[in-house]
Amino acid sequence: MQPPTAAAAALLLLLLAAAAAASFPDRFHKGPSSSARSRSRSASHSPQQYIELTRPLPYTLLPPTCSHRIVTHSFANTIGSPPFSAPYTPPPPSSFCPSPPWSAVALELSASSRGDQYDRIAALWLGGVELLRTSTAEPDDDGVFWKVRKDVTRYSSLLSRSDIEISMMLENIINDEFTGIYHVNVTLLFYSSEMGGGRPSVPIPMNRLSDQGLSMKLGLGLEELGGKSGVAPRDGVNSATLGAATWDHNPPPADLIYPVSDDGDRGSWYWIERASDLRSKKITIPANTVRAVLELCVSFHGNDEFWYSNPPDSYIRENNLTTRRGNGAYREVLVMIDGNLVGSEVPFPVVFTGGINPLFWEPIVAIGAFILPSYDIELTPFLGNLLDCEPHEFAIGVANGISYWLVNANLHLWLDHGSKRVQAKSASYGPPVHNVERDSQFRELDGSFKVKAKRKERLVGWVKSSAGNFTTMVSTGYKVKNWITFAGNGTYKFVKQKMKAKREIRIMNEARVPLARSFIKRNYPLRVITSTLPGSKKGTYVLVTNVSHALTERWSDGDKSSLERNVQDSTGWMEVKDHNVLSGKADTKQSYSYRDEFFCYNRKAEAADGKLVGDNSWFSRACLS
Ligand SMILES: *[C@@H]1O[C@H](CO)[C@@H](O)[C@H](O)[C@H]1NC(C)=O
Ligand SMILES: *[C@@H]1O[C@H](CO)[C@@H](O)[C@H](O)[C@H]1NC(C)=O
Ligand SMILES: *[C@@H]1O[C@H](CO)[C@@H](O)[C@H](O)[C@H]1NC(C)=O
Ligand SMILES: *[C@@H]1O[C@H](CO)[C@@H](O)[C@H](O)[C@H]1NC(C)=O
Ligand SMILES: *[C@@H]1O[C@H](CO)[C@@H](O)[C@H](O)[C@H]1NC(C)=O
Repeated sequence: MQPPTAAAAALLLLLLAAAAAASFPDRFHKGPSSSARSRSRSASHSPQQYIELTRPLPYTLLPPTCSHRIVTHSFANTIGSPPFSAPYTPPPPSSFCPSPPWSAVALELSASSRGDQYDRIAALWLGGVELLRTSTAEPDDDGVFWKVRKDVTRYSSLLSRSDIEISMMLENIINDEFTGIYHVNVTLLFYSSEMGGGRPSVPIPMNRLSDQGLSMKLGLGLEELGGKSGVAPRDGVNSATLGAATWDHNPPPADLIYPVSDDGDRGSWYWIERASDLRSKKITIPANTVRAVLELCVSFHGNDEFWYSNPPDSYIRENNLTTRRGNGAYREVLVMIDGNLVGSEVPFPVVFTGGINPLFWEPIVAIGAFILPSYDIELTPFLGNLLDCEPHEFAIGVANGISYWLVNANLHLWLDHGSKRVQAKSASYGPPVHNVERDSQFRELDGSFKVKAKRKERLVGWVKSSAGNFTTMVSTGYKVKNWITFAGNGTYKFVKQKMKAKREIRIMNEARVPLARSFIKRNYPLRVITSTLPGSKKGTYVLVTNVSHALTERWSDGDKSSLERNVQDSTGWMEVKDHNVLSGKADTKQSYSYRDEFFCYNRKAEAADGKLVGDNSWFSRACLS
């Protein structure tokens, strides 16, 4: 091959840069010594701890705890292999290991890796029911490790069984270039019912925190909070028997949980590769079910890893681009029963540790990267169609999805302990609303694309059990707006998305007297700006990127309420060749706050060039907004 002339080389760079912008954001790995940390540190080479800012589980600081290891495994070259699996048994009851019902159960995952590796997606299932969806940090030569805790009390009915298997999928590649093996331990932490009163709940006994020598700064006398621990049952309604008739933010764990998941060799998740892929399972549910909630577990990969930034196919085609990250920027995960749409979710855009600019996510990972959110769909109003002792088809699909999505669901069912059969009837009230508007304008590589979508769904149904005849009305809706702009001949890309979702549940007695009302409002704004510049060496380019995103959830039942707010802002640049990061600078600031009637918690952290440069957390009575 002839060496290219200077002019040809410059043109090549321009072409590279322009073509690249359309396909960003993308997925990268840091290379063995390219992490900001390895470059900026010369002295100490101890492994780096990665963190995700989440709501703390204060009860996990309390003794007595019983810890029960359920997974110890190293995921090396696991691609194409079936998941790791092992028989599950609950811990034998002892003075340290309480027998069920437990007041709380937490799952702790700890992981480590060293070398060079991409981020990987992973999930943990018990009897096919998903307990955790998680992704990995990208290692370097000094090694990385992390530890996360998730409340899994809601899976208590499964955790007390001993006839099921635990399985974990983490497809990884080991070869001459990619050397990072992921070592994983998973432990369950069981807590006994301290509050008395029988029903398992998730108490937050703040008055006991002082025993533990917390590293967190406590902003007020713990005694002030002491009297308010535990979740009191609502006046006059007994949630354990009524199921649907009370809607607590932390309802008692379901009596039964059925998986809506695959049982193939590629893990329990369904692989969705196109919009027409609808994956389903037939389930017969008990005739005495009084409440049903479908928990949806979702992650997105491949050409849809950054679905919220994908331009329409017409832009890609007319500019002769090679990227396959297309099909526009609107996606929706759909849940159907017997062909009827019963719920949908526009998922929170989780960014994995290799996403957009991997230097942003060391050592603070993006919101939800270690504990991906799951989404609850209230199906109680639909029970009237499901209690005939016949199998019903539960299906999941992704509207506009391209390759690939990993989805499955857990069906939580609460039973009437006072009868073998309940009566129920379902209806919808008000016509469903769904519309998607698209606007697309471009000339060559510059242009702008807008998508606006909204959905409203209202379902109503009554269930007559031994506790009475209660009507549940569920209204759900969301609005999403997405803008993508290309400028500078396609070298500048601006992505902005706003997502607002709302769910309201109302319970009435037979005389149509309202008994309870609750709502959840969620917001997830996102902004990604990427500028592509020619690099300093042949075949390299520079990406200057800003990412801002947030997750806000507000819940209220009229007299109790909670508010969670998690905001992350990252800025920086990197020089890359193919998918390798050669150099760069990055800064990530995060602010997390949570408050409910028991406690307020705040944490603010900042990472710069791979190091944690600030991390403060405190409990207080008044939350900072
Ligand atoms: C824009 O980029 C394309 C391809 O990268 C190039 O052919 C074209 O000349 C550029 N246009 C301008 C105005 O720079
Ligand atoms: C897993 O547990 C073993 C001890 O059983 C420990 O040696 C190892 O370091 C742990 N690994 C991780 C990643 O926590
Ligand atoms: C795309 O390719 C076609 C066929 O090779 C060519 O006619 C057209 O001009 C190209 N468009 C752009 C924007 O490069
Ligand atoms: C239950 O209550 C609803 C609404 O009040 C009523 O329409 C229905 O007939 C009741 N069902 C039974 C079996 O009484
Ligand atoms: C990115 O954020 C930084 C700091 O907030 C700001 O100075 C810069 O202008 C932003 N870049 C773009 C392309 O918006």
